[in-house]
Amino acid sequence: MYTQALDLPQQPEAAGAARLKVVVTPPSEAQARSQARFDAVLDADGKIEPQDWMPEAYRKTLVRQISQHAHSEIVGMLPEGNWISRAPSLKRKAILLAKVQDEAGHGQYLYSAAETLGASREDLLHALHTGRAKYSSIFNYPTLNWADVGVIGWLVDGAAIMNQIPLCRCSYGPYARAMIRICKEESFHQRQGFESLMLLMQGTPGQRAMVQDAVNRWWWPVLAMFGPPDADSPNTAQSTRWGIKRISNDALRQKFVDATVPQAKVLGVSVPDPELRLDEATGHYHYGPIDWDDFWRVVNGQGPCNAERLATRVKADADGAWVREASLAYAAKQAARQGAATAQEAA
Ligand code: 3HC
Repeated sequence: MYTQALDLPQQPEAAGAARLKVVVTPPSEAQARSQARFDAVLDADGKIEPQDWMPEAYRKTLVRQISQHAHSEIVGMLPEGNWISRAPSLKRKAILLAKVQDEAGHGQYLYSAAETLGASREDLLHALHTGRAKYSSIFNYPTLNWADVGVIGWLVDGAAIMNQIPLCRCSYGPYARAMIRICKEESFHQRQGFESLMLLMQGTPGQRAMVQDAVNRWWWPVLAMFGPPDADSPNTAQSTRWGIKRISNDALRQKFVDATVPQAKVLGVSVPDPELRLDEATGHYHYGPIDWDDFWRVVNGQGPCNAERLATRVKADADGAWVREASLAYAAKQAARQGAATAQEAA
């Protein structure tokens, strides 16, 4: 059932050490009872809450996924943030500002969810800023023209919703609840992107060409964004058993293609995939091969914008240091005043 498989002691690495006995301490009665309670909650499709006992590997997996997700939200502000000062109208600027602020809010909810698992926000951000933490591959591609902003809304946020709706049913309560609000906002993001592209597609031939160019550049990175194929996804099996992951990477990717190709037809853009066709037998669209080498290059820091994104985040963190210091000083002053007032009352 829901074992602590990932908690097994490290296998001895050295050849000599292989002869040493690995001593596995049997779980105490109390531990076994806690594990049984945890398994029963998951079996009943219930929620694990921060105060509940949980296997250490479950906690680590959640911290890994939630923090990567939080990093993606705040790094995700950067490609579109570049366009706030260049939006073509006041209306578009206001929409874009609201959207980018929403992403900051999503980061806040998710870092808070990670903190309920005992993670420190400072440590998580340090891992991001030193290049040790992952964030979504998709935000390492450049936004070259205004249509990119619409395409990010339509395709990137569309893919994000497809992946995140199942997370509203995740077994960890704080993550699941954060995702409900995030998904509502992502849904607005997706629609504003589509609406903005609809308008451009009714414009000049130059505007239509701009949209097609953006779709051509974003389509394949968006398909890769769902993560490696199921056969190469080391975390899926255990995360699914724990009710963290409800639908696999490939299944979500397929759902996204099936939902998005008809939308492309409505928009009047083509999808840059010569192999794309509807398979009448399955009712699903068949799509061509994804360039996984490119995906892993980007995930491992070699994408077109990785260095720029990281440098911008590090600078933003350094520039904001005085705000954090001032807030802490203010909180300390308030606490001291409160303490003095309470002491006076008691005297
Ligand atoms: N970019 C970077 N790394 C990726 C990735 C991607 N697109 N897809 C997978 N990976 C990484 C995984 O994090 C994992 O790395 P690790 O083991 O070193 O931590 C490795 O590749 C193997 O992948 P798995 O499929 O085994 O990993 P998971 O089971 O964790 O699945 C996931 C990956 C589907 C991204 C899952 O973690 C998930 O659903 N996360 C929550 C949602 C999320 O983070 N979305 C990111 C986009 S958020 C966003 O787009 C913001 C919005 O405003 C637009």
